[in-house]
Amino acid sequence: MTIIPTIDLVDALASEYTDKSPSEILELALSQEGEIAISFSGAEDVVLIDIASHLGKPFRVFSLDTGRLHAETYQFIETVRKHYNIEIEICFPEPEAIESLVKQKGFFSFFDDGHQECCGIRKVKPLRKKLATLDGWITGQRKDQSPGTRNEIPVIQADAGFSGPDKQLIKYNPLANWSSADVWNYIRMMEIPYNPLHERGFISIGCEPCTRPVLPNQHEREGRWWWEEATHKECGLHSGNLKK
Ligand code: ADX
Ligand code: SF4
Repeated sequence: MTIIPTIDLVDALASEYTDKSPSEILELALSQEGEIAISFSGAEDVVLIDIASHLGKPFRVFSLDTGRLHAETYQFIETVRKHYNIEIEICFPEPEAIESLVKQKGFFSFFDDGHQECCGIRKVKPLRKKLATLDGWITGQRKDQSPGTRNEIPVIQADAGFSGPDKQLIKYNPLANWSSADVWNYIRMMEIPYNPLHERGFISIGCEPCTRPVLPNQHEREGRWWWEEATHKECGLHSGNLKK
């Protein structure tokens, strides 16, 4: 059955699916009418691709190449492309915007005046451009990834940040209620490939200059933009998570 989650249906679907499995949520997402794609960061969210690959439905995957990912992440994206025999649509930032930023402020301006400007150019704008071509997107966000900003994310939501005046974009977070342990049990049980950075103390993985491994008992989010206040640790991809 084709399911069309109009804006009126989103809240109802969110409550109906809140206790359902990631597989059931993904199946719903892939049944949505229109264009929908998995947003793959090259980290633990490989689980989404693995689950989707078992559903027997066609699915699309895109990744935002910020130009600053770890070499291991580029290699892992390639591993995933080959392992699942899928196309990964790579989204690039606008060269002129990067050229201008780097010319004015150098390669590491985020350490001086915050990550928002660089993330805006390298992540958010390319994402906005991609989402303008889609009706829905599927993310690997989880509640336990960031107690300050993600502890209330629903499994399905109307995307307030990226919907246009004429189009309601639906955002699916099939792993929202899974813990890190659930994700890693799945990765081990299914013996799926993972980013080798995880073997070196990295949990949450973003761009190379803005990500570092965490110490025992440090929260994974503390390895991201560690020089900034904890409350600001969303880069704009999921800015709807920040309280207004
Ligand atoms: S971030 O906003 O802080 O960078 P995070 O690394 O926690 O996000 O990842 C959460 C989800 O955001 C990922 O599972 C993925 O769906 C999406 N995402 C993050 N970075 C990227 C990326 N470079 N390309 C595509 N999707 C991404
Ligand atoms: Fe730039 Fe760092 Fe944001 Fe990557 S995470 S886009 S390098 S500020």
